[in-house]
Amino acid sequence: MNILIIGSGGREHAFAWKLRESPLCTNLFVAPGNAGTALLAENVNIAVDDFDKLGSLCLEKKIELIIVGPEVPLVAGVRDYFESHTSLKHIFIVGPGKEGAQLEGSKDFSKQFMLRNGVPTANARTFQAHELHESLKYLDTCHPPIVLKADGLAAGKGVIISTTIDEAKREITEMLEQKKFGNASSKVLIEEFLDGIELSVFVLTDGEHYVVLPEAKDYKRIGENDTGLNTGGMGAVSPVVFANHTFLKKVEDKVIKPTIAGLKKEGIQYKGFIFIGLMNVKGEPYVIEYNARMGDPETEVVLPRIQSDLAELLLAAAKGELKNKQITISPEYAVTVVLASGGYPESFKKGNVISGLTSNRKSTVFHAGTRKESEAIVTNGGRVLTVTGKGKNLTEAITNAYELVSPIQWDGIYYRKDIGQDLLRLEANA
Ligand code: AMP
Ligand code: GLY
Repeated sequence: MNILIIGSGGREHAFAWKLRESPLCTNLFVAPGNAGTALLAENVNIAVDDFDKLGSLCLEKKIELIIVGPEVPLVAGVRDYFESHTSLKHIFIVGPGKEGAQLEGSKDFSKQFMLRNGVPTANARTFQAHELHESLKYLDTCHPPIVLKADGLAAGKGVIISTTIDEAKREITEMLEQKKFGNASSKVLIEEFLDGIELSVFVLTDGEHYVVLPEAKDYKRIGENDTGLNTGGMGAVSPVVFANHTFLKKVEDKVIKPTIAGLKKEGIQYKGFIFIGLMNVKGEPYVIEYNARMGDPETEVVLPRIQSDLAELLLAAAKGELKNKQITISPEYAVTVVLASGGYPESFKKGNVISGLTSNRKSTVFHAGTRKESEAIVTNGGRVLTVTGKGKNLTEAITNAYELVSPIQWDGIYYRKDIGQDLLRLEANA
């Protein structure tokens, strides 16, 4: 089977790496890919939302299965595009259509969906631009911290947590009136603050049946001990120590089952991943957000723990044949550390030559923002590489990841040195 992966990050490199293990995978293409995917697949320089060109590529290369990595093409309707073209509609796609992608594309839609379907989540009210006055009055009744969420996609920056009512009022005014996040903040949710520990659970579904992938915890802030600006993610760990069997069973019963039943009941065909961002509040799961795709860098710890044939599972999900499929997961730990360009998530330089790239049996380097320039591999983004280590316990996985990180160099390299340390402390106290 010829497979196309859409995207260019560490997540897409990890997909390519895992799919290459499968006897079902014949030719593998990545659009647009990076210097890492080029080692495993043929990169094709097509933007993730250029559907006409992606369609032509699929016909030319006889693609049978597409895996959509990032949210942008999903929310823009890549599945709907393929399904509406006679010559393309036979191609199986992992990723929901435009309607299902609203679970990620609109926080108002996803909040109402959760409330309608009895999925535990924080209470919230939504305000539009013409309701600024009402939103300010409502804020007077709230108790800080107050969570403000831009409705639309805002590249992971659309959530603001205010510690005072006055600050929340300033922020919501900027969002609704001054369009701080463009159209994404033409609606804003004011949401109750959930106090707990975060983790993410990933589900692959065909719209009716599902398999639950390994859970993960990511590290969103740029600075150690979770300080500084939010990023796309600076590292991840799987499994998550506090996600024990009892908690994960609650997630399945209270979150996953009603979510999938809700999609079906509402007539939303959904074949793809659901990434469920959760808060563990005193042992009870609450949904913070849904994403319509896998996480990055979470994928780089989730896929290395899957022992089943991923191509087989993805094809089954895309065909609607997940019933009776099982997933086998390794009990090993995986830890990934993101190596970023100095300055990220604000401005940073590109084009620095990367040295010290190696690999070994216990660890893998996934490329994110890299490209080849003559014979050198150079930086080409904010998040440049993500290095995954495995081990029989968390300490060993952390050691293996950082061992492969330490020889890697470029001008301005930055990474967090504390990935997994909070979970080690939790383990010690458990
Ligand atoms: P999101 O973009 O929805 O993932 O939100 C970004 C981050 O904001 C989350 O990862 C949480 O750390 C935090 N957050 C979002 N909603 C809440 C909430 N209701 N209570 C506490 N923290 C939240
Ligand atoms: N690491 C968070 C995300 O992929 O949305």
